[in-house]
Amino acid sequence: MCGIVGAVSKSNIVPMLIDGLKRLEYRGYDSAGVAIVRDNEIERKVNVGRVADLEADIDFDRFKASTGIAHTRWATHGGVTRDNAHPHISQNNVAVVHNGIIENHHELREELMSKGYSFYSQTDTEVIVNKVDDFINHGDDLLAAVQKTIKLLKGAYALGVICLSEPGRMIGARSRSPLLVGVKPGEAYLGSDMSALIAVTNKFMVLEDGDIVDINQGQVTIYNNQDQLVERDVKTSSLSANAIELGDYHHYMQKEIFEPGQAIADTLEGRISANSVLEQSFGHDAAEIFDRVEAVQIIACGTSFYSGLVARNWFEKFGVRCDVEIATEFSSRAHVVPANALVLTISQSGETIDTLTALDKAKQQGYRYSLTICNAAESSLVRASDLVFMTHAGPEIGVASTKAFTTQLAALLLLAIVLGRRKLLDQTTEAELVNELRSLPGKVEQALSQDKEIQKLATRFVDKNHALFLGRGLHFPIALEGALKLKEISYIHAEAYPAGELKHGPLALVDSQMPVIAVAPNNDLLEKIKSNIQEVRARGGQLIVFADQESGMDADAGIEVIKVAPVDDTISPIIYVIPLQLLAYHVAVIKGTDIDKPRNLAKSVTVE
Ligand code: G6P
Repeated sequence: MCGIVGAVSKSNIVPMLIDGLKRLEYRGYDSAGVAIVRDNEIERKVNVGRVADLEADIDFDRFKASTGIAHTRWATHGGVTRDNAHPHISQNNVAVVHNGIIENHHELREELMSKGYSFYSQTDTEVIVNKVDDFINHGDDLLAAVQKTIKLLKGAYALGVICLSEPGRMIGARSRSPLLVGVKPGEAYLGSDMSALIAVTNKFMVLEDGDIVDINQGQVTIYNNQDQLVERDVKTSSLSANAIELGDYHHYMQKEIFEPGQAIADTLEGRISANSVLEQSFGHDAAEIFDRVEAVQIIACGTSFYSGLVARNWFEKFGVRCDVEIATEFSSRAHVVPANALVLTISQSGETIDTLTALDKAKQQGYRYSLTICNAAESSLVRASDLVFMTHAGPEIGVASTKAFTTQLAALLLLAIVLGRRKLLDQTTEAELVNELRSLPGKVEQALSQDKEIQKLATRFVDKNHALFLGRGLHFPIALEGALKLKEISYIHAEAYPAGELKHGPLALVDSQMPVIAVAPNNDLLEKIKSNIQEVRARGGQLIVFADQESGMDADAGIEVIKVAPVDDTISPIIYVIPLQLLAYHVAVIKGTDIDKPRNLAKSVTVE
């Protein structure tokens, strides 16, 4: 949700800023802008639309500087206009890029207006830049001005600030929104995440909440929220610049749908032995904590929430009490906290503010232990949790999450096994499950081989405005995820229902115009879902059924059957989601939507 990149160097930083913005564009893509300190002015270029539109506007031979900040926006305060695009600027003296929301911007705006400041945008950010300018006018240098300003801010922010009077200096600050400092001899950078900086450096420092960084002619100094000098470790990112290249694929989402075989193999590597799961892969203290855990509370958003819903089936099957809740809903109510409960957050980005807020709430309310399953090392969730299990999905760029989901499921099954072995899960079943997990990459490839068949099927959705997804048990969350994928990228209204609930309402929607997608693996619920499929057929609904080759279901009038290779019931959700991802992808290709950057959405949602 908004991407920040900033640079102080001895050479021209504009191409690097634009490249960084392109790599951050998945975070927000309503508008983009860049500001540089140049001769006697701060020069600013902004445009609505994509970074490519901004780039097209820049005369790279003329627009050059060694200090600058840039931003790609996902609108919160104020519509998508040039005036609202960042960087924001005050009196041609200070420029600011901001990610987050300033809750008390009204009061600050009034105070600044009473001092004669006027405002050209509707953003909350403009108060920050004017306040910094105000302090500078009263004699502060840039660092002191930002230090004083952030003490007045309520809300969440990551900031990059430059000013005309101190070329070669850039201040960064963060509170509840992510910000990294990239380092290299004589140069330093700010970035919302490492993808923005990886083309120039793989060395970075993570700012902690409340930190301010002073980048002055390439020298980096960090202060904490008490304005005390602090040291932050310099880390080496394992991200490779190529990992975020598109290669031969048409879209990142397509690339990422095709990657889970490797991603799951990477997620399992070093975490399983021949017959069992290695519980130390959840952290040093994992065994001690897991011995005490009596219940699991899962909190997550979006696709990550659906992986939690799948996992609940595994936890409870193995005798571990488990609840799952959407993060914002979890935060909205009081809880009866079970004794020795583990709060488990699931997140691709590790920066989803709703999940972070819910984790804070859970800790305040007495949840004793915390674990995160996350795909971003060094993220806020990783730092806020007692135990950490990294999924190794690699960077996920497409806004609609795909390979992150499948690797989360693999990680969650590992966790269900280590907790379950303390309850109902015996060694033989554990060994069988480990074997099944190991077979997953091969099974993923089989599922992907149906790509062409699914592409053909997608043509049926072109003129549809609605679709219904059905599933039962372990596969109801898969139906939910299939519906989410379709609505996110093809803008077709899609709803998922537990198949058994069909007769309690949604059946009224079924007619010959309504595609109904059923997930029907070969398990003990198959006969029940077959009955539900008949209920749809009897009403003329157009059925597409994803079924096991051995389920005895065949194509017929009004029913198309996509046959999925046989797979063990427990791991089957990890396989059955793949054809649904492919279906959503191909429908969106036919509809010509912006697949990797669907309208109104952002990948990393860092505002509440
Ligand atoms: C956004 C993304 C979704 C994602 C959700 C949770 O809405 O568009 O794809 O599932 O956030 O993100 P997280 O990073 O916490 O998994």
